[in-house]
Amino acid sequence: MGVVISVINNKGGTGKTTTSLNLGAAFAEKGHKVLLIDLDSQCNLSTSIGISESALHVGNILLGENTIEQVIVQKEKLDIVASTDTLLDYEQRINNEPGREYILHEALQTIKDKYDFIVIDCAPSLGTLSLNSLVAADYYIVPMQAENFAFIGLDKILQISEKVKKRMNPKLELAGILFLKLSGKTRFSQAIISNLNNNLELKNKVFKTHIRQDIALMEASAFGKTIFDYSKSGRGAFDYRKLAEEVFLKVKNK
Ligand SMILES: Nc1ncnc2c1ncn2[C@@H]1O[C@H](COP(=O)(O)OP(=O)(O)OP(=O)(O)O)[C@@H](O)[C@H]1O
Ligand SMILES: [Mg+2]
Repeated sequence: MGVVISVINNKGGTGKTTTSLNLGAAFAEKGHKVLLIDLDSQCNLSTSIGISESALHVGNILLGENTIEQVIVQKEKLDIVASTDTLLDYEQRINNEPGREYILHEALQTIKDKYDFIVIDCAPSLGTLSLNSLVAADYYIVPMQAENFAFIGLDKILQISEKVKKRMNPKLELAGILFLKLSGKTRFSQAIISNLNNNLELKNKVFKTHIRQDIALMEASAFGKTIFDYSKSGRGAFDYRKLAEEVFLKVKNK
């Protein structure tokens, strides 16, 4: 049975898409069967893997116009459900449906067995689509940038996820908070890390793996590639492999 992971943070630009793509690609590199789902009208995940426009997309699944099997496209080792820039219209249309938060969960039931990991890239919002991802998920990852106000808003995501767990999806667990764009040598990054290590409540929730600042991660997605196709022996690939191992151990030990 595939493990469903939602990559979520209502704050923009924290590394959700980069993490969805490259964590998925790291699992695929290890031989796992992976499905990526783009749940953001910015379509950054779809574009990052080289899909500029897809005739069928996640909106069609949400409205029941197509099955998920019909929408999946293959890109090398990865299967993808692409998004559309009109996704917010689809979100509005499902907002009148009873059980609107369960639509993605329902759609995944037919294909969950075919995958080891299903990774969902959320938009920077906590609307109906992001709730769909939390209801469908076994785990969620919260990517955060190492900056002054990084923790602002974190409470909100954790509280919403707790409500989803209590009311809709009892198996939902936080896989971890992931720090990105860390530049280990700067005093500022060191301060963030030591601050974190002194915070007993958060300490155990943060991944040991940090994703360091790496320009190749930015370049790879601009060229429509995963970091493993673009620079497989670089720092970004190393960090995402390490993250995949950490996630794998957590999931396996559940
Ligand atoms: N470790 C890193 N080093 C350098 N650049 C990075 C790193 N991680 C992500 N980036 C870059 O930071 C920008 C934001 O990342 P990304 O698109 O993954 O964030 P996001 O949370 O998906 O954004 P949005 O909220 O808009 O969907 C991108 O240009 C990406 O290439
Ligand atoms: Mg994104």
